[in-house]
This record gives sequence, structure tokens and C-alpha cells, in this order.
Amino acid sequence: MSLPSNAGPRILLALSGGIAAYKSAELARRFTKAGCDVQVVMTDSALRFIGAQTFQALTGKPVRSSLWDEAAEAAMGHIELARWPDAIVIAPATANTLAKITHGFADDLLTTLVLATDRPIFVAPAMNRLMWANAATQANMATLRSRGFRVIGPGSGAQACGEVGEGRVAEPEEVASVVLAALAAGAAAKVVEGPLSGRRAVVTAGPTREPIDPVRFITNRSSGKQGYAVAESLRALGADVTLVSGPVNLPAPAGIRRVNCETAQQMLDATLAACADADILVGTAAVADYRPVEVAGQKIKKKTETLDLALTKNADILTEVRAAQPELFIVGFAAETEKLAEHARGKLERKKLNLIAANWVGDGRAFDRDDNALTVYWADGELAIGPAEKTEIAKQLAGLIAERHAAFAAAATARPVAKAPLKSKAKAK
Ligand code: C5P
Repeated sequence: MSLPSNAGPRILLALSGGIAAYKSAELARRFTKAGCDVQVVMTDSALRFIGAQTFQALTGKPVRSSLWDEAAEAAMGHIELARWPDAIVIAPATANTLAKITHGFADDLLTTLVLATDRPIFVAPAMNRLMWANAATQANMATLRSRGFRVIGPGSGAQACGEVGEGRVAEPEEVASVVLAALAAGAAAKVVEGPLSGRRAVVTAGPTREPIDPVRFITNRSSGKQGYAVAESLRALGADVTLVSGPVNLPAPAGIRRVNCETAQQMLDATLAACADADILVGTAAVADYRPVEVAGQKIKKKTETLDLALTKNADILTEVRAAQPELFIVGFAAETEKLAEHARGKLERKKLNLIAANWVGDGRAFDRDDNALTVYWADGELAIGPAEKTEIAKQLAGLIAERHAAFAAAATARPVAKAPLKSKAKAK
């Protein structure tokens, strides 16, 4: 049976093998009733719990379950299928499938699609309460969350195995409403047209946390407000924005992909990954310059009058990204307590940046408050912005980024071979 394709959002509903699979029939029905175009993918284990025919009848499309199905692959190869949906929903998501996804396995169709997609992924975990509470599963969930996976549930209550506890799959009604609300918010945000339409921007924001022992860490007063405002302003100019965020108390802005991280090393890894296909990087994050040489395995006891903490330098994210991406348009921030112009221009050269936004800090200025003032420098110009609310500063800065990036892109098309955008031969720190 083949129903006509709906024009609504495309959802790839993926089932891994658990008794909760029967609930996904109701989920598929809710998605199709909401006007979504639904393609179901099932693992071999899922097929042991519920038949593919059920989903074919509900969605009007044959279920995909194998990487080796020649006819299905000829119609739409798995890489194409990974790019087809607006969202991937894994429900139920078993402990095994979540573990495989966390570690980048691609040994069946479901995990291969997850590895090959850049679309938002929702997971509805379903498993026995002890499997859910297990440190391995919890560590996997923390990793997936930090990579931007949206976790729905699990709920608590009586389980199919006869036990009572946390691990029940979220009800189809809840899964559908979370996914449909997120898609609606994304669609609303998607219609933005502007000078940065078609451009991908990455923004780092917030502080980092460098652990000392299991309960203590080194951090700073960055609130992330300026970075989040810059991300929203770039989005408002049409850019596709990924926000690489340290721990802050701010909600994820609508229409923006947020990747959460904690340490400078995690922020570096996430930024390098996000920048692989980006046009613009804006580094607003207050990255810790140093981290403890050793992280104590147990809470450090107050046995001595003084405590020496040996610190080692963190990698500079902007410098590392510049080394990997000579053609990326990179905007840095410089928080200074003296010689603003001199220090900022020094950083512009040393880190091979295209723009640097400098501000005075200390004495209650800039950090953890709603207003700010910047002077932006580039190779042959400068512009003062503010003092004003951080949101207004962000708007003007985003406008300047769009303008300078357009000039940079125009010059790049005239350049015959790839080379670093700045002429400086100065060594990065
Ligand atoms: O050298 P300084 O820390 O003053 O440079 C500030 C700029 O460099 C900011 O844009 C900040 O996000 C970035 N930075 C970085 N990685 C670090 C330290 C700072 O990307 N480890």
C-alpha cells in the first residue's frame, strides 16, 4: 500500500528492540495524524517485538530495516535517508542502541543513519530500571545530551519485567508533543532571510569548568549572555547557528542548535567539529586559560594549612580552529583591564583573527550583567559599539560581522589558492 507523501515535517521514526516497541505504533499514528511524513526504521531486535506491516499500514511506507536491502537502497540510499528527515526520533531507545550511538558504531541501519545525519535527534529511552541507573548508561546519556540529543523520559512506574522504577518509555503523547513542538519552533525560526542566509555560524559562549576533584572546579563569572545574544542576532540575519555553550543558566534560543560542554577540552572538540563545515566562528566564551594538572579521584581533604594546585595551560580554541580552518572567518573577544587597543590588536594578529571585539573588564564591568561596550578592530579599521544592552550590542556586532564577512568572502573568491586571511606572520600563542 502506498499513501501519498504528506507535505508536513519529515520524521524518521527509529525503533530498537524492546517490549515498548508496541507503543511506537501509536506514536507513528500521532505523527501521521499531525500531517508528518513518517519513515520507520527498525532494528532486527525491534522486528522481534512488533511487525513491520503494522508500521507500513500506519505510515504508507515500507519499513527500512537493513543496510543490505538492495531495492530499498536503490530507491533511497542510507546516506540520502539520513539527510531526508527534519528530525530523527528513536523510540524505544534501548540501552544497547544508546551505547552504540554514544560510541559512534554503525553496524546496522539505525546506528548508521544516526552517524550520517546532521538533523536533530530525539531519544525515548526504555529499559529495566537497573540498566537505566547503571553508570555506563548514565555516562552515555550525559555524552548524548552534551552533543545536543534531546532525551524524552524515561518515566517511572511498573515495568514489563515486573519491577518498579525509572526506565519506562515516555508515553507516545508526550514524545509526539515534544517532537512536534520542537519542529514547529524550528520551522518558525527557519523562515529568517537576511544577509547571512545560507551561511553557517558557530558561537562559543559561557565559561568553562576545569575539575579539581569530583566536587570542585575552577571557573569564572561569565554568564553567557553576550554569546547567546550574538548567536540570536546572527540567526536573525539568516545564519544557521550552532552554539557551543559552557554551563550557563540560559535556555537554548529558538532555531539554534546548542551543544553543551563543560571543560575547555570539550569546548575545543565541539568547536572543531562544528566548524568543519562552517563559514563563521565567533568566540565569545570565557575559556579557562589553565586547568589542574591532575584531577583528584576523591574529594581533597582539608589536611594541610596550605594547598598547592599545579595548573597547566589549556589549548587556545581560536588558534586551534584557525590552524584547522585557514579560510574560516573568525571573530575573537578580548577582555582587558588595560591598554585595550594594543592588547586587542596584538591578539588579532597572534591568533590570525578577522575581527576582534574588545571590552574593558574588572570593577563590575561586562561580566554577569546586561550591558556592555565594545570596540571592534580588524586589519584596517575599527568601530565602537555601545555602551548598550548586550542584546543591542549583539545586533550591531552581528551586522558588522555580516558586512566584514561579505567583504572577506568576495575577496576569497578572487584569491586563486587557499591561504590564511590575514597577512600576519606572527606566531599564535
Ligand atoms: O587570549 P585571550 O584569552 O584573552 O583571548 C580571548 C579570546 O580567545 C576569546 O575570543 C576567547 O573565546 C578565546 N579563547 C579561546 N581559547 C582559550 C582562551 C580564549 O578560544 N583557551
